[in-house]
Amino acid sequence: MPKNPSKRFDQLMPYVFSTQDVKKLRLRAEGKRIIDLGMGSPDLPTPRHIVEALVEAVSNRKETHRYPNSKGLPQLRESIAQWYKRRFNVNLDPEGEVFPLVGSKEGIAHLALAYIDSGDFTITLNPTYPAHYNGTLIAGGRVFFLPLREGNDFTPDLTEIPTSILNKTKLMIVSFPHNPTTSTVDVEFYKNVLELAEKYDFIVVSDLAYSEICFDGYKAPSLLEVDGAKERAVEFNTFSKTFNMAGWRTGYVVGNRDVISKLAQIKSYIDYGIFEAIQYACISALNGPLDDIRRTVETYSRRRDLFISTLNGYGVYPRVPKATMYVWLRIPPGYTSLNFSDKLLDEKSIVVSPGDSFGKHGEGFIRVALVADEELISEAGNAIGSMYLQ
Ligand SMILES: Cc1ncc(COP(=O)(O)O)c(C=O)c1O
Repeated sequence: MPKNPSKRFDQLMPYVFSTQDVKKLRLRAEGKRIIDLGMGSPDLPTPRHIVEALVEAVSNRKETHRYPNSKGLPQLRESIAQWYKRRFNVNLDPEGEVFPLVGSKEGIAHLALAYIDSGDFTITLNPTYPAHYNGTLIAGGRVFFLPLREGNDFTPDLTEIPTSILNKTKLMIVSFPHNPTTSTVDVEFYKNVLELAEKYDFIVVSDLAYSEICFDGYKAPSLLEVDGAKERAVEFNTFSKTFNMAGWRTGYVVGNRDVISKLAQIKSYIDYGIFEAIQYACISALNGPLDDIRRTVETYSRRRDLFISTLNGYGVYPRVPKATMYVWLRIPPGYTSLNFSDKLLDEKSIVVSPGDSFGKHGEGFIRVALVADEELISEAGNAIGSMYLQ
């Protein structure tokens, strides 16, 4: 009989998408056609020039087949720094202030292993992307959840954090444009977070995964735009959403060199960095034309408008997102997020994410990922909308 898992393992919740996957697979095996709007996994293809750069590198640069250097290719770090300069007017030293990751998720989770002991706190949002707290739980630390409420347009009120928690805080993780609520913040918000961090001496982590998936002229700011932010902050970003490269597992962290070096050391015990041929593809992504990103954003924007106008036809009026590939939708009375999502899957063959799987303040909502073509989005909009008439 195998031994029991560790106490820290036992406090982890089953990952929401793993639980849904089991059900999805069963229904598919029964021959059901499913519209899967659960995971934020882009359905659009990776742009052609990026795929070609991978093929070229893997075919013609045999050295890419060896173990990579975990720091990443110098040209990749340089390209990330230039992207930050062009996009946010932020200066980064590619030698110590930029570090490529095997997807931003692993970087965010591993960072906790470098900083969190038992008794230490990470402050994060609730609801939020689960890696923002699971890393801390795996490290044996504690999490303070800062609620995002509808009345505050799903932005946090920093005064809700008790001083007793602030005194024990090592990390605070914020992430805007926000998954799952789609809310956004301005640079002023980051200034306030950094002031608090200065006062209580903790590290600020920004997860900017949806920086480029913005609509109607909105441009998401970077935390590093605040003067002096690099003193105590790092920011994570990913190729997954901007370039439709979720399966390629590539992201990066930028900002404070000391924090980055600690994360790099932790990772050196665990992985070898990104396959080098993929790094060449990432360089091509960052230096390539911006038309592909524009097309991706236009596609999500059309899907958003179609989905929302379909729901409006049923008298359902969700908030119109300025960013991200999601719609955050209040469920009809009489349901929980989970049983409403289950009903959608069982009766309409539609997968969405129950809001409470992102934390208890997500209860009462579902998250719909706009990762299917317009025909399916319209079908899903009608099926979901009809649930509000029952
Ligand atoms: C807020 C947020 N951060 C990070 C990620 C994961 O990014 P990556 O694919 O780089 O691991 C996601 C994925 O959905 C996300 O929503």
